[in-house]
Amino acid sequence: MKRVVVTGGAGYIGSHTIIELVNSGYSPIVLDNFSNAKREVLAGLKAILEFEPHVEEVDCTDRSALFSAFERITSGETIDGIIHFAAFKAVGESTLMPLKYYSNNIASTVNILEAAKRFDVSDFVFSSSCTVYGQPETIPVDESTPVRGADSPYGYTKQVCERIITDFVRSGYPLKAALLRYFNPIGAHPSGHIGELPLGTPDNLIPYLTQAAAQLREPLTVFGNDYPTPDGTCIRDYIHVLDLAKAHVAALNWLGGQGTTCEAFNLGTGQGHSVLEVMRAFERTTGVPVPHRIGPRRTGDIAAIFADTSKARRELGWSCQFNLEDALRDAWNWQQSTVD
Ligand code: WQD
Repeated sequence: MKRVVVTGGAGYIGSHTIIELVNSGYSPIVLDNFSNAKREVLAGLKAILEFEPHVEEVDCTDRSALFSAFERITSGETIDGIIHFAAFKAVGESTLMPLKYYSNNIASTVNILEAAKRFDVSDFVFSSSCTVYGQPETIPVDESTPVRGADSPYGYTKQVCERIITDFVRSGYPLKAALLRYFNPIGAHPSGHIGELPLGTPDNLIPYLTQAAAQLREPLTVFGNDYPTPDGTCIRDYIHVLDLAKAHVAALNWLGGQGTTCEAFNLGTGQGHSVLEVMRAFERTTGVPVPHRIGPRRTGDIAAIFADTSKARRELGWSCQFNLEDALRDAWNWQQSTVD
C-alpha cells in the first residue's frame, strides 16, 4: 500500500483528501500542528474511516522537528509521495499580517522539499491557488494564462512556492511535481462528520452564508454590487471539496507514471457563479432564506474568474462529479451538524 505524507492533513481540504486517499488504496500519514485545524477533525475522520490515520503533530516550519517526524515515519518503510497543504490561506488576513504568511507558507515549503530530498521522495503534490492569476485579462483561465502580480501576500506566497518547486526541479533533483491551482473550494463530506471549520468569523463566503442562514451571525454582507458583471456581484468558480480531494488522488496516480516533471493544473468546475446566484441557489436547494445586505467592496477582491479545466481532464483523467447545488446542500448539512 503506497504511503503518502499529507502536511496540513487535519485542515479543510486536507481532511477530505485523507478520505479519498484511503478510498483509493493509499495509506495517508497526517502531519499537522493544529494551528489552523481543530483536533476534533480526527474524530470525524475516524467516524468515516472506522480507524484513525497515523498522525504526527509537527510544525513544518521547524525543520529539525519535521525531519524527526520523517525519521519516525520512514523507520523501516519508504514514503511514496507527499501532498503539501500546510499553509495559512486567508486572503484578507494576509494583507494585515504579511510576515506571518511569508514565514509560514514559504519556510514550510522549503523544509518539506528538503525532507523530500533527505528521505528520497520524488512524487510531490502542491496545494496552489487560482490567486496566482490575479485579475486575468480573459476568462476562463487556462494554465498558460500569465501568472500576474499577486493581489495579496497569500497569493504571492503561492507564486513564490510554485517558483521554488520549479527551481528545485531545474536544479536536477528528480522531483515529480503537480501544482494544483484551486478555485473556490466549498461544501463538506455528505456524512456531516467533517467540513469547513473556520476559526472565528469566517472570511469565506459559504461558511459565513451558512452561519447567517442558521442565524448564528449578522446578515451576510455582499461585498459590492457595482462590479462589471451581469448582476454587479463578483463571479467565482465554486468547486465541491470532494471533487478537489479526488483530484489529489488523480494527480498522485498521474505522477506515478511520469518522469521528472513540474506541471500546473486548474481545479475548478469550469463555471462561474456570482455571489447573488450562489445565494439564490442556496435558498432554492435548502428552502432556507439568507438574511443579507449589500455593502461596500472588499479590498483585494477581483471581479471575476473561473477555470478552463481541460488540462486536468485530459492529463489527469479527472473531472467534477458534483455541482453547485450538491456543494451547497452538503455545506448546509454540515452547518446543521456542527454545534458551536
Ligand atoms: C468569494 C466571493 C467576496 C464573504 C478564496 C480563498 C483563497 C483561494 C481563492 C484557494 C468574493 C464574496 C465573501 C462575504 C461576500 N482559494 N464575499 N461576503 O476571495 O475568492 O478566495 O478562493 O487557495 O484561498 O480565500 O473567496 O469566499 O472569500 O469570496 O460577498 O462575507 O464572495 O467578495 O466575491 P475568494 P471568498
